[in-house]
Amino acid sequence: MLKLPKALLCAATLALGVSGFAQAADPIVIKFAHVVADGTPKGQGANLFKKLAEERLPGKVRVEVYPNSSLFGDGKEMEALLLGDVQLLAPSLAKFEQYTKKVQIFDLPFLFDNIAAVDRFQHGPQGKELLTSMEDKNILGLAYWHNGLKQLSANKPLREPKDARGLKFRVQASSVLEEQFKAVRANPRKMSFAEVYQGLQTGVVNGTENTWSNYESQKVHEVQKYFTESDHGLIDYMVITNAKFWKGLPADVRGPLEEIMAEVSIEVNKQAEALNQSSKQKIIDAKTSEIIELTPEQRAEWREAMRPVWEKFQGEIGADLIKAAEESNKAS
Ligand code: LMR
Repeated sequence: MLKLPKALLCAATLALGVSGFAQAADPIVIKFAHVVADGTPKGQGANLFKKLAEERLPGKVRVEVYPNSSLFGDGKEMEALLLGDVQLLAPSLAKFEQYTKKVQIFDLPFLFDNIAAVDRFQHGPQGKELLTSMEDKNILGLAYWHNGLKQLSANKPLREPKDARGLKFRVQASSVLEEQFKAVRANPRKMSFAEVYQGLQTGVVNGTENTWSNYESQKVHEVQKYFTESDHGLIDYMVITNAKFWKGLPADVRGPLEEIMAEVSIEVNKQAEALNQSSKQKIIDAKTSEIIELTPEQRAEWREAMRPVWEKFQGEIGADLIKAAEESNKAS
């Protein structure tokens, strides 16, 4: 056997040991991609998750946040999650229909009276069940994050459903939302979020629906003359991960990350409404557009025109689930 001087052996062992240690200590990298700006409820939530995860798990976890579709945009992000190219996403609840028909419930127009009702449904048994409803496809829901209720926008005033007739509206990739606009005899067009500003600017579409924070952060008020405060639907998110990746994390990392996610979710959900109101104020201050308030009668007309959409999707979503969501409008 080759005889090595003791000092050399010691140094070799030490070097091996050190490099072995360095390898074991490499942080787990979690890429969190999303399509909106930093100043929105989701953007702030992603940044807070990064801050708390890196503070509480120093050296163990590194979180890289990619806002504004800078890593993956709509259409590609779910595929990337399944391929392991990104570990966290928070797509709007309108973007899951390829994976489950049940989550379509959140797109039904005029389903929830307010965000408190949404909260009750998401945290009730049926809402919680939806988080794990895509596990067979390797997608695990970790939390719901609010953005808020949607408002309509167009280059003409929308007061009654007939005002929308014939207009082209951008919608998210959701069959329910397509039907919602068809119900008022408008033409829906699916388009990724990153394309909205240009689509409106060039007239590929004439109007859209979104929350105040998404409108303001995308400068939609520069290319739309009118907003209608309709509160007709919801933009909320499911924070999702690759189920195999998440379950494969060491317990002393996964546990704290789940606690942090719960904490961040409370914070996002507390701040979302205030962020939307401050964005609405910025749109008012910019003076480039007009905000239309509906009378109760006008709002009832929109509701009546869009409600038939429910029946179309009741089979896919499930009457029981819809009933549970409606029940959540009653304060507990
Ligand atoms: C949209 O596409 O309008 C929204 O889903 C964007 C978002 O993530 O809030």
